[in-house]
Amino acid sequence: MTIKRHPIFLNFYEVCHPLIQHKLTVLRDLNTNKKDFKALVGEISMLLAYETTKNLPMTLRAIETPLEKCECPVLAGKKPVVLAVLRAGLGMVDGFLTLMPSARVGHIGLYRDEKTFKPHLYYFKIPSHSKDRHFFICDPMLATGGSAVAAIEKLKEAGVKKITLVCLVAAPEGVKKVFKTYPDVPIYAASLDRELNKKAYILPGVGDAGDRLFGTK
Ligand code: PRP
Ligand code: URA
Repeated sequence: MTIKRHPIFLNFYEVCHPLIQHKLTVLRDLNTNKKDFKALVGEISMLLAYETTKNLPMTLRAIETPLEKCECPVLAGKKPVVLAVLRAGLGMVDGFLTLMPSARVGHIGLYRDEKTFKPHLYYFKIPSHSKDRHFFICDPMLATGGSAVAAIEKLKEAGVKKITLVCLVAAPEGVKKVFKTYPDVPIYAASLDRELNKKAYILPGVGDAGDRLFGTK
């Protein structure tokens, strides 16, 4: 895949694969309906999952093929966790699970105050033994970065050491905030967009991801 590492935010990676870019353009289009929007979020997430899991640790397992015994590579350690940031992150979970069916799923409920843009936590549930698991935080939108920082903070409080943030669209403001607060957390996105508008929506963006996914507007 073609990956662009940001020259300043060194932990930010833009995944520029043609299929991802094509699907993202259709996703952005205001004429794309709810059904297609949901399908596209899932497809892009699956492609991002392929890229973001490339450094998962491996070990060897002794098996027997129909012809001989051999030692072959398998994923090592505890099952990773896909952490959905409610609501919109729910749309990314199945894409990840398509590639990692036995991954665990955690949920964090955060909503952004419409005036202050500050995140409010209303739910947090993660699998046991979280300290030993790699967490993939899934949220389609990284806008001011408030929600991402709050999610990372909760995971760090829980003792989680390996965290990757995965978004579809990121604003420079959000990338900067996450990078400044948690420079150890890599961020992957299908696009680094231009800026935020006065209501902290990403430009050009996709609009309100939660509303478009769930048809709530
Ligand atoms: C959206 C989005 C992110 C957050 C990003 O969720 O899914 O979680 O905003 O904004 P930030 O980077 O400025 O924090 P929202 O709070 O609208 O909740 P919803 O998914 O339930 O609609
Ligand atoms: N949340 C969204 O859903 N979209 C944005 O552009 C910003 C925050």
